[in-house]
Amino acid sequence: MLTVSECKDRIELEIAKVPLSEKSPVELYEPINYILQLGGKRIRPVLTLLACNLFSEDIENAMNPALAIEIFHNFTLLHDDIMDHAEMRRNHATVHTKWNENIAIISGDAMNIIAYQYLCNTSPEIIPELLSVFSKTALEICEGQQLDMNFETRNDVSILEYSTMIKLKTAVLLATSLKIGAICAKAPQKDKEKLYDFGLNLGMAFQIQDDLLDTFGNQDEFGKSIGGDILARKKTFLYLKALELSNPNQKSQLYQLYSEKFISKEKLIQNVIAIYKELELLKISQNTVEEYTQKAMVALNSIDASKESLLILQHLALNIMNRKV
Ligand code: IPE
Ligand code: IPE
Ligand code: MG
Ligand code: MG
Ligand code: MG
Repeated sequence: MLTVSECKDRIELEIAKVPLSEKSPVELYEPINYILQLGGKRIRPVLTLLACNLFSEDIENAMNPALAIEIFHNFTLLHDDIMDHAEMRRNHATVHTKWNENIAIISGDAMNIIAYQYLCNTSPEIIPELLSVFSKTALEICEGQQLDMNFETRNDVSILEYSTMIKLKTAVLLATSLKIGAICAKAPQKDKEKLYDFGLNLGMAFQIQDDLLDTFGNQDEFGKSIGGDILARKKTFLYLKALELSNPNQKSQLYQLYSEKFISKEKLIQNVIAIYKELELLKISQNTVEEYTQKAMVALNSIDASKESLLILQHLALNIMNRKV
């Protein structure tokens, strides 16, 4: 059984081989190389390899699909950073800030296509299933991203709507990363579905943790500007839970702050965080992350695989729950 760090090393080796440096026009390929070489946790392709390895010693079949998922994920980041007006990612300038928005759009488009090329460079008999699962997820991510944008200007978003939004923009990709690993190993259908369910719950925990770190994280560790979600008036888990738990005075302050047009960035972030602290939202969000992680564990433990191999995924889930990065 491969460990998480062995999987990550294999992924890094293969990403370094993606042929980009000699291609032209450089304006298209250089930003792709830049974002792929900036690192990142590589969680999704690691999940693919580990899921494959649950059912098969041979993970070669899963390597290109795993790369496809990582390239696709990085494509979504390029476009997401334009949409969210984010200037920093992985402790470096975002592509649209370093170059410009048009470059981030077209380089992102190219990455989407390259992702499909990698996805289809595997055993021919599994390609139809991979394409069907992957395209469904890709479209769901667009739906989630659009909901995320719609919510910025709405002030009646429920936690249920939020849950649907993060399931679509984030959780389905973690779920699909695992399912694709299982498809590559020709695992039984019921185990593919259980892995998907594990990934969905893990993905929910992952996005709530991301929301939490966006406000309470350490910028150097997290690699993104702290308070970015507040500046973009995102309806994050923290914001929605704050509205639910606040007294009338705190609630009107929150509404007021999110509709302020002329307040300084620092003051806006500071004042929103002050209310979150009064309401102990850090602890409350951590509890919700833990609940989703527990649900993920139940799905994981119902899979018919060796205890030892399942333990590696359990550990990974716990690390995701406690991550600062
Ligand atoms: C960021 O994903 C986008 C979200 C879904 C929150 P990651 O946190 O996996 O980013 P990298 O790839 O490790 O940088
Ligand atoms: C990201 O959500 C979801 C996708 C990229 C599809 P966020 O907007 O919260 O991700 P970060 O925080 O910018 O990484
Ligand atoms: Mg973003
Ligand atoms: Mg976003
Ligand atoms: Mg975020």
